[in-house]
Amino acid sequence: MQATAIAQPNIALIKYWGKRDIDRNLPAVGSISITLSELHTEVSVDLSGDQPVDVLIVNGEENQQMLPRLSACLDRVLGPTRPRANIQSNCNFPIAAGLASSASAFAATTLAAAGAANLSLSTQELARLAGASSGSAARSFYGGFAELRNTGDDIALTSLGDEESWPLQVVVAITESGPKATGSTEAMEISRKSSPFYDSWVSQQEQDLVLARDAIAGQDFTQLASIAEHNCLKMHSVMWASRPPMVFWNAATVQCLETLRRLQGEGCRVFFTIDAGPQVKAVCLPDDADSVRQALTATPGVLNVMMSRLGSAARLVQER
Ligand code: PMV
Repeated sequence: MQATAIAQPNIALIKYWGKRDIDRNLPAVGSISITLSELHTEVSVDLSGDQPVDVLIVNGEENQQMLPRLSACLDRVLGPTRPRANIQSNCNFPIAAGLASSASAFAATTLAAAGAANLSLSTQELARLAGASSGSAARSFYGGFAELRNTGDDIALTSLGDEESWPLQVVVAITESGPKATGSTEAMEISRKSSPFYDSWVSQQEQDLVLARDAIAGQDFTQLASIAEHNCLKMHSVMWASRPPMVFWNAATVQCLETLRRLQGEGCRVFFTIDAGPQVKAVCLPDDADSVRQALTATPGVLNVMMSRLGSAARLVQER
């Protein structure tokens, strides 16, 4: 009746932006991500109490704001007549700040809920359930490199290689620690309805996925860097051209891009990606990680720098 799961956030290199079916939370495009190792969310779900309502404790404090989404996630896994749950969540990085905290939180909650109820679900089934809560959460069920494909009326998760297959490093520059103003579901809908670039974003995604898939298979860093930066800037162009416009960047975000351009000019093997928040994720080869860390730490406006290797899939750590 009680289980604990750990999931790591994942960072998309080819981004998911836009929904095909809002009720089922199906993405309009496929995506490719890397799962991180040093950042994690640990979630315990306890179904043994006889309390009348779900209770959520996040990092030691009761949290009412995130409770409805987590309760809905438990309903999906366990059915609406499930017992009420005690949910404890601990996260070692800023929440809702564009660091994929929802991916790790919903992957861990889905897995812990299934574990607490003794359900044995396939990776595909877990990905589908977690993805219904947060599209990107589906990808945390594989370590290393994961691809989430849009199969028409469903999603399919595949592994493009585990965390040992190509040990890239990620340096995250935190430029703001507070939560973002617009949640991604609302922001994606604004883009779908109003951005003049939205249709071409969706129609070009398949060719970006092919290039990234080939780059990962051949461990071609230059090709992966080029397509990941292009795909990221294309997603942000869709956001910027939406009405109202959505600009998640701040001045330090741009300063980080300048730092990374300078490093690239000096021969450093690094590229950037940015999600729906102002943080910059620099992906690099292990030999270059130290220079990237030092350069981003010295960049004006950077509050903190986190380093991570590629990490493993979401997993149960304890069941009772
Ligand atoms: O899974 P959501 O609803 O948090 O959306 C994730 C959106 C991006 O992080 C911007 C892109 C992605 O593929 O992770």
